[in-house]
Amino acid sequence: MSRILIVDDEIDTRELLALTLAKAGHETVEAGALAPATRLVKELEPLDLVIADYRLGTDDGLDLARHVAEARPDVPVIVMTGYGSVEAAVGALRAGAYDFLTKPLDPEALLAGVRRALQHRSLTVEVRRLRQEVGGMDLDDDYGIVGRSPAMRHVFEMIDRIGASDATVLVTGESGTGKELVARAIHRRSARTGRCVAVNCAAMPANLLESELFGHVRGAFTDAKTDRDGLFLEANGGTLFLDEIGELELEMQPKLLRALQERVVRQVGSSRERRFDTRLVAATNRDLEREVERGTFREDLFYRVNVVNIALPPLRKRGHDVLLLAQSFLQRASERSGREVGDIDDAAAERLLEYDWPGNVRELQNCIERAVALARFDRITVDDLPEKVRRARSSRLALDARTPSEMPTLATLERRYVHKVLEATDGNKTAAAKVLGIDRRTLYRMLDRWTEEGAAAPN
Ligand SMILES: Nc1ncnc2c1ncn2[C@@H]1O[C@H](COP(=O)(O)OP(=O)(O)OP(=O)(O)O)[C@@H](O)[C@H]1O
Ligand SMILES: [Mg+2]
Repeated sequence: MSRILIVDDEIDTRELLALTLAKAGHETVEAGALAPATRLVKELEPLDLVIADYRLGTDDGLDLARHVAEARPDVPVIVMTGYGSVEAAVGALRAGAYDFLTKPLDPEALLAGVRRALQHRSLTVEVRRLRQEVGGMDLDDDYGIVGRSPAMRHVFEMIDRIGASDATVLVTGESGTGKELVARAIHRRSARTGRCVAVNCAAMPANLLESELFGHVRGAFTDAKTDRDGLFLEANGGTLFLDEIGELELEMQPKLLRALQERVVRQVGSSRERRFDTRLVAATNRDLEREVERGTFREDLFYRVNVVNIALPPLRKRGHDVLLLAQSFLQRASERSGREVGDIDDAAAERLLEYDWPGNVRELQNCIERAVALARFDRITVDDLPEKVRRARSSRLALDARTPSEMPTLATLERRYVHKVLEATDGNKTAAAKVLGIDRRTLYRMLDRWTEEGAAAPN
């Protein structure tokens, strides 16, 4: 329930408004002129919204809008204007009103406007609170990982719990979710004194990767001019991070499996086996279980690697972490560039929260760095954000849209809805397919298609 102040000099309009809003479950307070309204704006606590007429007898409704914008900037104002008066509407917005409604009032339009304004208000309040919190605190944990959402707290707990063990860990998550960061955190959390060595399985053909991992002896192949230990041994006493393990070629898989099972490696060109004490952390943005089903990833290797799974949530499921991360990137980027951009304004913060971030944290980081470079003032505004972020509209509002230009296409809605269901089922595709009333293969096909179109997440 929200408390709304209604200001109009006509008692009939006030009553009609009060009645409509009360039916929708809101508490209302009324005033008939500027002076009492100004007093109420000062005194009412809480106050969530002001709806004021453009003309208040001899007073000017815009004076009230200006007063509220000044005295209580977090309280949105809706100004009611005469039908078709563009000038009045523009004046209202200039005076700091959040929105305007034209008279005669249509109850549905009124309630939709009120809903939008209240949603805007709760976001503003949240953004302020977060910003204050962010101001004086360390944004990240000991490992430089920013996040406070339940999903990320769970990740931190996992890192703490398993860090000290020697268990092999598989870190999964969409591209840009911070898998590498987590892999390094696991190493730092462990008591391992050796190095953390990373290798990207996607970057190398199988034969090269083999000598990279296991080493080679001199003369094993043309380019092998000297003996080489290989990464398993270089990371001895430490951690080997196998990035993009989902890309590992089939021919390499049994070799890796054997090394992990027997804890020994054999350099290419040698018959001698050497023991290693290396902890393995692997990462992938693929669904490895699905790769196993498809026969592109060996099941036995999957179980060997997936002893503990840390699944990183996509950024769009981390709620207000988006703002924490944005603030942290903002600090870093402005320090680095020497530009004093310290803040993100409310409207920009809203877009950041509403956008879906298919490229996850990396995309957000790029977005903020770009915005800092572009910013004309000491704060980031909507104009500094990339086009697609600027366009972000919360999907909740999609069905409330009233003007054709705000209405999404069916394909967009379909995509959004499918992703929404997937979120609700925690990414369980079988369950999601059931909810959607389609079979699992159809769902996979849709997801594949969107990935190919570069639209894995709704926009
Ligand atoms: N929670 C976080 N806090 C702070 N920075 C983060 C966080 N998550 C990711 N980053 C930063 O975002 C960028 C991408 O992270 P990272 O490289 O770890 O992602 P990834 O999951 O390995 O992506 P890919 O699958 O594309 O390799 C890095 O610059 C990283 O430092
Ligand atoms: Mg990575």
